[in-house]
Amino acid sequence: MGITLSINGHPLEVSEGATVLDAINQSGTYISQLCKDPDMKPIGACRTCLVQIEGTRGYPASCAVPVTEGMSVWTDTPEVQAMRKGVLELTLAMFPSNGAAGSKDYKELSIAADRHGITDSRWQGREREAVDSSNPVFNIAMESCILCQRCVQACQDGHQFIGAIDLLGTSTQGRIGTFAERPLLESVCTTCGQCLSVCPTGAIEVKTPPLKVAKEVTTTCPYCGVGCGIKAQVDDTDRIVAMLDDPDNQSSIGMLCVKGRFGYSFVNHEDRLTTPLIRKDGILTEASWDEALEYAAVNLASGATSNSYQDYEEAGCLVIIGSDANSNHPVAASRMRRAVIERGAKLIVINPRRIEMCDFAELWLRPRPGTDVALLNAMAKVILDEDLVDWDFVSGRTEDFEEWRELIDNYTLDYAESITGVAAEDIAQAARIYAKPPFSGSCLIWGMGITQHMMGTANAHSLLNLSFVAGQLGKPGSGISPLRGQNNVQAAETRAACPMLFPATR
Ligand code: SF4
Ligand code: SF4
Ligand code: FES
Repeated sequence: MGITLSINGHPLEVSEGATVLDAINQSGTYISQLCKDPDMKPIGACRTCLVQIEGTRGYPASCAVPVTEGMSVWTDTPEVQAMRKGVLELTLAMFPSNGAAGSKDYKELSIAADRHGITDSRWQGREREAVDSSNPVFNIAMESCILCQRCVQACQDGHQFIGAIDLLGTSTQGRIGTFAERPLLESVCTTCGQCLSVCPTGAIEVKTPPLKVAKEVTTTCPYCGVGCGIKAQVDDTDRIVAMLDDPDNQSSIGMLCVKGRFGYSFVNHEDRLTTPLIRKDGILTEASWDEALEYAAVNLASGATSNSYQDYEEAGCLVIIGSDANSNHPVAASRMRRAVIERGAKLIVINPRRIEMCDFAELWLRPRPGTDVALLNAMAKVILDEDLVDWDFVSGRTEDFEEWRELIDNYTLDYAESITGVAAEDIAQAARIYAKPPFSGSCLIWGMGITQHMMGTANAHSLLNLSFVAGQLGKPGSGISPLRGQNNVQAAETRAACPMLFPATR
């Protein structure tokens, strides 16, 4: 049900849970809002969104006040305008230049200053910390920073769950920095650029900002299988000059990784292949598209996912096997971290190699390379032995269960431990958490470390059987996901773009 209120005397209906700032924005009324990113939660740090609300004392920050029925909000009285103007003047005085007329363009802050008629500052500017230019792509320049903390939120629990930067110090010593104040390049920063995309003043900016943008094209990142939404900014010669994230895309919900945001120069690179190549007698030879498609049809195989990234965020348990998601599917990894950090999901990493996701894992199993089948079958046996089976799923949606059970009976924990090198108790623990997560369902996620082994098909069968016996499929927060190499592979196959399959991958 909607809530009715008025903004500057004009009635408006907004949805329940909206803030006063949401209502002002919905009404089309301009108000400065320097610390509020449209896609993240309010921070309440900048105080540039002050309003008057009838019956409320003082000038509350509109981003922090929920709407209530019949509320009467004013953004344009002389008192509240003067109040916001004062805050903006003080904000500008954080810069060495004090934001005086003719100084740099501070983007959203300059727009806010213009709208409040600020042409010069009453206050003296102040010295700020040195620019951190260690990152090869962008700088963090404290001399243009207003400590709004949008970048911090974007790097932490607003978007990416990386935690490379934070607000350090207090009062006039406040600054954005890294752990132990090391240069950004020496921190855990992945150069995803999420901080840069939310900075309202340009304090975080690419080293060479794009000069002219003629148009923006909404499309999909050409790299990995996450399929993040991007808005390509293109100049008048049709060359891409910047990539922006797309908050409306449901795969990436406003995130990009370093590849999607900054790795676009290949599009116009002279080394780019313009015709298909097929290796013949060891030599890459130019081929027609018909030849290439025919070759691919005969030589490639495929898999498909049963769920969406939203299910990762809703799951009570995530098992990630044979994948270094941080490196290969970084935005999917961010969504896994959100599940663990915000919702308390249990993460099980199965990988002989230590990956960054191990930092967030309840359990890290390190099977000897090539022993995944033994490990997964032993997990299935624990589920059978301890009656953690989803019998409805098994009876309604599987075939040849007893035959499979006979085979699985061979995979005792001791046998699996001797083959895989993983402690029996850890295998059992993983099986229990996967079959009965603390809430919701379990997602089984794998990468090329499963499929691109000689026994890749057997690995995939063992994974599928594990999900069947636990019934972790076909309900919210559950499912199976091979993380694909390229974006939109699955949709392309579903629509019959894969030459050896009919539509819907039949
Ligand atoms: S660097 Fe930009 S986003 Fe971060 S606190 Fe400073 S002004 Fe805000
Ligand atoms: S996670 Fe994958 S699809 Fe998303 S921006 Fe990075 S490379 Fe592109
Ligand atoms: S936008 Fe409300 S306090 Fe910054």
